Amino acid sequence: MIYKKSMVALLLTSLALVGCGGNSSSTTNLQNSDSSNSSTTNSKKNPSLHILPIMSDEDGNFSDAKATYTLTAKEGVDVTIETPNGNWITPMWRYNDSPLPLVIKANRGDYMTLKFNNRLSSDSTIHWHGFKVPAKEDGGPDFPVKPNESRTYSFKIDQPASPLWFHPHPDMQTGKQVYMGLAGVFLVEDNISKELERTNHLPSGNRDIILLVQDRRFDNEKNGVRELKYMNYEMDSDGMLGDVVLVNGSEFPNLDVSTTQYRFRLYNVSNAKNYDFAFSDGRDFTVVATDGGLLKNPVKLNHIKLGAAERVEIIVDFRNDNVGDSIKLISRAFADDMMGGMMNMNNNNMEYEGRTPNGTEVNIMNFTVTKNSEDNVTIYKTLTDKAEISKRLDPNSADNIGNEREFIMTMQMGSNMSSGSMKFLINGKLFDPNRVDEFIDANSTEIWKITNNSPMSHPFHAHATQYQILDRDGVPATGVDLGWKDTFLVKPNETIRVIGKFEPVNKGDYMYHCHILEHEDAGMMGYFRVGNSGHIK
Ligand code: C2O
Ligand code: CU
Ligand code: CU
Repeated sequence: MIYKKSMVALLLTSLALVGCGGNSSSTTNLQNSDSSNSSTTNSKKNPSLHILPIMSDEDGNFSDAKATYTLTAKEGVDVTIETPNGNWITPMWRYNDSPLPLVIKANRGDYMTLKFNNRLSSDSTIHWHGFKVPAKEDGGPDFPVKPNESRTYSFKIDQPASPLWFHPHPDMQTGKQVYMGLAGVFLVEDNISKELERTNHLPSGNRDIILLVQDRRFDNEKNGVRELKYMNYEMDSDGMLGDVVLVNGSEFPNLDVSTTQYRFRLYNVSNAKNYDFAFSDGRDFTVVATDGGLLKNPVKLNHIKLGAAERVEIIVDFRNDNVGDSIKLISRAFADDMMGGMMNMNNNNMEYEGRTPNGTEVNIMNFTVTKNSEDNVTIYKTLTDKAEISKRLDPNSADNIGNEREFIMTMQMGSNMSSGSMKFLINGKLFDPNRVDEFIDANSTEIWKITNNSPMSHPFHAHATQYQILDRDGVPATGVDLGWKDTFLVKPNETIRVIGKFEPVNKGDYMYHCHILEHEDAGMMGYFRVGNSGHIK
């Protein structure tokens, strides 16, 4: 029922992301239509990139501003992991038995009704990462859904087109549940994004592709099965880092492309890993969106660093490539996280198998140019000032000028000198589910000062709304830092200031936390209350 194949959904699916040429199931591992004849290329050993399946609106009508979905979380869904070195089966936790992470696509103005059935053996929730919704619909740990129970989330989408996502957020189990495979993509579209596609100012259709990047650690093979391995406290003070980087579920996959421009919605949904994305030939790409939506002015770069939970949309140009060429997307080597790894030196146990530290160069995926095609897309240069997405929040409009709200992130060695006893703190405190840490007036605009006084980078995330970076260590934001964001990678000894406007929809108790999920689960998190009431006493 969930995947009812209505014509509308099919049409939408092929228009939007998949271009599946009549393949009517939205749940199977769809291949991009450009990738059907890859056997003759030199990328023969790379598995083909899976295109993530878009769920269909259960009422069968994508355009009626009402969207109805069901997500059933389950353990033990057998997934085939494809790699250049052969395939294996891994039992994972998934929504709706789907072997691949699911995609929900909705329009600004839609009223969402999402039923969540928890068939796990532990509490869970669904958190709508990056959404502006009332706290009680936000899926935080304060509203757990017990095993074999259900709950329905309902909210109106009223924010700009953006690459959002969803994932479990139960108390102390978020890292485990996301790691086991529970996370999905939520694309919001609006009139601006649709118009840019319609007028060929953004690539669309099967040249608009989601890339979900996640690292994992697998146990040794037993009868074709490799179980996921989770957390070894002796080696994982940086959070859970694996040695296999999956893109849409496969290791180092290949996408066959034509000599055109592509829009990639690049998601870092790893538990703890930072990537410095770049191309093997050093080519430029154009960033057109950050976490919270389109950039007013696209920015050309040749690499971009994304911490866990950060997203960008990039345009990659293959028009000057020749049929037969192949280009890799890599994560470049970088150094600013060395101290995080150094912490582990305190351990007698130097077992690093299954763990690729942050900053190691790694192959992400491959592109093979397989055909010449026409391209009539000219990337937009600037969005109209009138668009909400183009507006910069004015620091002079903040309600807390001169009294900026501070968040200081620290790490403290525990008594027994092992990384497993490391404490991860914000403002000197560990998370307490019964305590609200920060109180914010309804409908106010605030400047937050976020400081990292620890030896490793932390991706600071706040719920409730989308924020803008004002400055980093006093240097005013430029380039991609001008985009709307919900997650900010803060380097060791760095202070960033961000500004956020709490909207009428924001009511109740929301979270802020490090999005290294193991740090969050260990208590690097707090509640902030918007308005004068919340459910925490
Ligand atoms: Cu994506 Cu509170 O998290
Ligand atoms: Cu969130
Ligand atoms: Cu952290």
